[in-house]
Amino acid sequence: MKNKIVLPIFGTRPEAIKMCPLIRELWRRENVTVRLCVTGQHRELLSSALDIFGVTPDIDLALMKERQTQEGFLSALLDALPQVLGRVRPDLVLVHGDTASAYGAALVCFLRGIPVAHVEAGLRTHDIHSPFPEEFYRQSIARMASLHFAPTEGACENLLAEGIDPASIFVTGNTGIDALDYTVRKHDPPAILSFAKDRKLILVTAHRRESQGEALLNMLSAIRAVAREREDIRVIISAHPNPSVNALTREIFSGERRCLVVSPPDVSDFHTLMAHAHLILTDSGGIQEEAPALGVPVLVMRNETERQEGVEAGTLMLVGTTFCGVYDGFCRLLDDEALYARMKNAQNPYGDGQASRRIADVLLATPN
Ligand code: UD1
Ligand code: UDP
Repeated sequence: MKNKIVLPIFGTRPEAIKMCPLIRELWRRENVTVRLCVTGQHRELLSSALDIFGVTPDIDLALMKERQTQEGFLSALLDALPQVLGRVRPDLVLVHGDTASAYGAALVCFLRGIPVAHVEAGLRTHDIHSPFPEEFYRQSIARMASLHFAPTEGACENLLAEGIDPASIFVTGNTGIDALDYTVRKHDPPAILSFAKDRKLILVTAHRRESQGEALLNMLSAIRAVAREREDIRVIISAHPNPSVNALTREIFSGERRCLVVSPPDVSDFHTLMAHAHLILTDSGGIQEEAPALGVPVLVMRNETERQEGVEAGTLMLVGTTFCGVYDGFCRLLDDEALYARMKNAQNPYGDGQASRRIADVLLATPN
């Protein structure tokens, strides 16, 4: 059997967390060589995630710039990738999800006739402006990819509705669930867990482009208002390094004794904190998938979600991005024990932790 050269290309923290389990699975297989190209869309967030999984890039384009624009980043990526592809000569390129790195890599491969496999394919809100620009990127990647790994049946149906060839779609579960096997620690919790002591730990993240500005201010102010009223909770906020998010987050919680703003914990610390959390408030995509597997209810600070399965299963509740929506949803989940129990005990719809194995099986069985 011919040796296949597979080239994952990605650049952000969430892609690293969800692609590393697949890379590690491919390392175990025969007849395949993995070369990894990271775009460096993220810097410290990316390297911290790669370190946890023991994965080292073969090529690092190191493209991140402070306050980068989508156009600026994409033009640098489109400029750099042809040389990488010429050097590595991959049989197949792997991209993940809906980031600028994934979109740019898929586009360059499409233009050069190199097959692309899309991991975490088929997530949709059907609103091109939310999440922005991710919904546009993932819809566009579906047009360009030749293999589509859908995490759920719902994602598969979204692809079928767009006319994607059924023979090219595989429902695998989400590799983010596979990652939890590497990351969650049973012992040795992160030191910051002691901030919560015997109080209920509330974890918070918020960073989406479409929420930056007024919506972010309202969401975080609502969390602060609830924290001021309740002695039984302690809130840990992971502040994204994006300057448009970081400064505001630190300012809002400054001097709040029940709230602790931290630089992003590495993924092992963060997932271990998640496992100890009473509930999570977030606009993150990945956290909406991980929390159900850890039995932690999530209030999603967005107006819609592409993780509808989690809403239907009962673990996720959309609270929007207004002060009232977040404040009311947060208080309700703290006070309503029956609701809390239902959300906590809901079934995880995102897979059994075997997604990488299924994807690797398909990749190796598919002729180039
Ligand atoms: C991108 C993804 C989004 C994902 C998010 C994860 C796209 C279109 N969006 O968001 O789906 O949820 O990453 O975090 O690709 N920064 C650092 N260090 C880092 C990373 C970022 O300083 O390690 C700062 C830089 O100033 C950078 C800014 O954050 O310019 C924004 O990073 P960027 O990747 O452009 O973020 P988003 O596009 O908002
Ligand atoms: N995460 C992390 N440390 C943090 C915050 C998040 O390791 O301080 C992890 C989180 O568990 C998930 C991923 O980062 O696996 C989500 O990243 P992000 O929210 O930035 O991106 P999204 O999933 O929204 O694209």
